[in-house]
Amino acid sequence: MISQKRMMGQYGTPQETVNHMVHTLLSYLPVSIERPKILDPSTGDGIFTLTLIAEGIEPGLLYAYDIDPTVSTPHSDVNFMTTDFLKADVYEEFDAIIGNPPYKSKRQSEYFLENNKFIKKQFGSIGVHNLYSLFIHKGIQALKPGGILTMIVQDSFLTNVFYKNFRHYLLTQTQIKEIALAPRRLFHKGKADVRTAILTLKKKEAGEDENESLMKLIDRLDNQFYETPLAKNVQYLNQKHFESLPGYNFAINVPFEILQHFQMPYQKFGDVIEGGTGISTGNDRHFLRKYEQIDNFKEWIPFYKNGGVNDGWYYAPKYFIHNDWQTLKEGHPNFTIRNSAFFYRKGITCSSMGVGFSAAYLPKNSLFGVNANFFPENEDDLFYFLGLLNSKLVTYMVRKVLNRTNMITSGYIKKLPYAAPSSINKEIVRAASRSLVKEKKLNPHFNTGPLQRTIDEAIYDIYGISKENQSHVEEFCQDILERI
Ligand SMILES: C[S@@+](CC[C@H](N)C(=O)[O-])C[C@H]1O[C@@H](n2cnc3c(N)ncnc32)[C@H](O)[C@@H]1O
Repeated sequence: MISQKRMMGQYGTPQETVNHMVHTLLSYLPVSIERPKILDPSTGDGIFTLTLIAEGIEPGLLYAYDIDPTVSTPHSDVNFMTTDFLKADVYEEFDAIIGNPPYKSKRQSEYFLENNKFIKKQFGSIGVHNLYSLFIHKGIQALKPGGILTMIVQDSFLTNVFYKNFRHYLLTQTQIKEIALAPRRLFHKGKADVRTAILTLKKKEAGEDENESLMKLIDRLDNQFYETPLAKNVQYLNQKHFESLPGYNFAINVPFEILQHFQMPYQKFGDVIEGGTGISTGNDRHFLRKYEQIDNFKEWIPFYKNGGVNDGWYYAPKYFIHNDWQTLKEGHPNFTIRNSAFFYRKGITCSSMGVGFSAAYLPKNSLFGVNANFFPENEDDLFYFLGLLNSKLVTYMVRKVLNRTNMITSGYIKKLPYAAPSSINKEIVRAASRSLVKEKKLNPHFNTGPLQRTIDEAIYDIYGISKENQSHVEEFCQDILERI
């Protein structure tokens, strides 16, 4: 059963993480503020306020809020209030804000339903998708100009398209001091398997609108020894670079050599190749069959919808759709069709779910689902693009810059930067890619390693990636699940 605490989004932050956050917050507070007024807006058991007191902050300077009436003050001298922070009447009052707000999406929380009008009015301009981003937004309003906020939140705001306006708001209203990808499984003890990041920012002061400030970006930490991340995991980048990235995406510790390919305006994959999603049946159980369920293959067409990690280059169709689907769809209003001009053409079909990313040959006379599919003009181009999409560099760019989640749609892939290859490199990729499709068709367990290596090297060369950064990409691709 879900406990009351869990329903309200109460997952305790581990002490090591709290210590790190408190040190980070205090290190950015201007020394001129001798008696900082500090708020924890979602205090729970009060671990942040107690840690601040242990660090020498007077309890009387601390403010702690919680909506839950069963939560009580962590210390008798702390200014504690049972209140809804999102509705609290606080504006430019605090020198600092720290905490771990609730992470509840619109779908997971009744709070959104119950407070729909109010939320839209207060926070509508930056998009309302999750309680944590509303807490950061409200936190920035509650900070005095020049004040500092440190919060640990779900990391979906870094690249998810829903948070584009939120990222833009952060870039214009604040100086982002640090983003650290917190250790994986930080909250596993509480069974909350979420990836989190620690965000520290300073609210801009009047007239301070230059984004010349440096952001400290810390890659996924292995453990909770926050003080000593390896140098290769820390990057300092000027905030202004993020203004010209697609979707204002916050890429963390992506070498500038790679990031510069995304600086707008740049030539995108979507500018040089056509494609997109195809058929959404609205009811796959009804419309699709597996190989073993089919008696007469003359009546059924291969239907490609989402290859797995090992399905790169070529895989036998897993699903089929009846060749009379146009008639059979009548009376099924959820059956939707896009990009029918590409139906039955040979092309490339991409995976859409899972941490890895792969692309496979889409044979002629097939249909495709709501994953991404591309249709190059000729076969030579097809094999080049197939090689490009299956390269490690593209996996890295997709997962680390464009979208950190497990869902990849064609919209994200179309934003990949496209660099024109030399004819020699193009031929190398094409030949290797063609062999891989042929071999995997003959043997699904074919060892793709050596030819994959040939392709990767050519793609690194095309994008001008140094040896050092090639190793960085390879390390990431070896263990995406842990590093993402
Ligand atoms: C993720 S817990 C964090 C608890 C504690 N700060 C920690 O890190 O261990 C979030 C807390 O936010 C509180 N909360 C949820 N919605 C709130 C709201 N609208 N205003 C204030 N507190 C809220 C919950 O009751 C819960 O105690």
